[in-house]
Amino acid sequence: MLDGSDLMKIRLLRDRPTQILSPWVILPVFENSPNPPAGAGDTGLATLVGRLRDRKELTGSLGELTAIHEPAGFAAASALLVGLGPLEKWDAGAAFTAGFAASKRLAGQPRDEVALILPAVATDFPDERISALIEGITAGTRGPGLRKSEPGRYAFGTLNVVPEEGEVAGRLEALESQIRRGEIVGQAVNLARDLVNTPPADKRPEALAARIREVAQEAEVSAEVWDLARIRSERFGGLLGVAAGSSHAPAVVILEYRGAGEGPHIALVGKGVTFDSGGLSLKPSASMEDMKCDMTGAAVVAASVRAAALLKLPVNVTAYMALCENMTGGEAMKLGDVLTMRNGKTVEVLNTDAEGRLILADVLSYASERSPSRIIDLATLTGACMVALGLKVAGLLGNDDRLRDEILAACSATGERAWQLPLDEDVREALKSNVADLKNVGGKWGGAITAAKFLEQFVGDIPWAHLDIAGPAWSDSDSVTRDAGGTGCFVQTLVKFLEGSGS
Ligand code: BES
Ligand code: MN
Ligand code: ZN
Repeated sequence: MLDGSDLMKIRLLRDRPTQILSPWVILPVFENSPNPPAGAGDTGLATLVGRLRDRKELTGSLGELTAIHEPAGFAAASALLVGLGPLEKWDAGAAFTAGFAASKRLAGQPRDEVALILPAVATDFPDERISALIEGITAGTRGPGLRKSEPGRYAFGTLNVVPEEGEVAGRLEALESQIRRGEIVGQAVNLARDLVNTPPADKRPEALAARIREVAQEAEVSAEVWDLARIRSERFGGLLGVAAGSSHAPAVVILEYRGAGEGPHIALVGKGVTFDSGGLSLKPSASMEDMKCDMTGAAVVAASVRAAALLKLPVNVTAYMALCENMTGGEAMKLGDVLTMRNGKTVEVLNTDAEGRLILADVLSYASERSPSRIIDLATLTGACMVALGLKVAGLLGNDDRLRDEILAACSATGERAWQLPLDEDVREALKSNVADLKNVGGKWGGAITAAKFLEQFVGDIPWAHLDIAGPAWSDSDSVTRDAGGTGCFVQTLVKFLEGSGS
């Protein structure tokens, strides 16, 4: 079933890096820099690193790992040098990658204690790069192997975070808060990844809803779960239509976090298809292999609200998640069926694999009825978006330039990538049906755009942005800096967005 991740204790330690007794110390090194690794001063290890640089055995490129045992001048038994890339390019994205690489390398066996030395290079130290480094360390200890008989990875018992000498005076509180932020956001990323990596039989809508409720309530976020009867009485025709082919009932989860008292709230909406077979418009087997990832939007939204609450951000957020399976059971919706949606619009279903827009339409209508200041939805919505932008960039569409700019600003702060696609008026044509108000598929071209155009009909006048995360939600490849499986993409960016947004 859906279990919790093992937790790592993270604490600030103000010992000299050279005197740390943890068996492993992680020492960041910059690329093309004459400086020694963070915290190495003029130790024998610093001299050795200088020689390795001269011989081009070590460059400090991003994610490069070099293990040195019995490092001269250090009390620790082993040092792991991790490349941060060049100082000019060292941003939050690079920090996450470096942290991830280092901890993934060490997390293959249980370790009571690991120390991380913080490079204190910037005048604004400690800034969000410190948080991102901790987020990366946290994410790197957690792999996709949730059902392996022997865990493939182990969270460290304790992560000791140690600033370089002499850099902490007057900045202790700021440093503590970056560490705490990194811990909370890193755990949120892992929560989203765990939910995505959970096998589909273990996260049926009801079970996933219960798990989301549980993690929300731990953070004192109020949670409401709708069952089938409630979904019927709320007339969520799109969600009911998609869920009809499954023997498992759909669910709607609504989380409310109020960090700013009375006043406007932001609505987050997540697609939560716990498995997308395509329905009667069945996917070929190879395209179905990773379709447990089709609830990433819901997982990311839930994890982000939890993080916002634990960080006590001064914002009001309401998150809506529509959960169901897209299956081929005897009651499955058929091509030519017409669904009546929450807002009264009728939709002719001409491809049951275009199910995401059907379930999102109802929650978007419901969310907009409650007059949020803006709405952001996240959905693994179209393969077309992957064709357009590749596997690492999300499509960003919407009806409001300011909201778009704020999301792009949050993206550049975290290093996650989104790119705007146009949502022009004439695209509406493509969704005209002969029998109903709309049909659920456009033509052959611009599929990410027609999907978003469909969603737009359900948000009224509310400023709205849609992130199509079909590409970045999932990774096929496993590498030093990345795991295969769910990525937890856009948790970091949503948290950043909520931090910068007084609703
Ligand atoms: N969940 C898929 C989109 C998807 C594809 C996500 C690959 C992640 C990886 C979505 O429900 C879907 O099937 N979309 C169809 C829409 C089409 C039928 C108009 C698609 O993209 O093929
Ligand atoms: Mn589909
Ligand atoms: Zn889908």
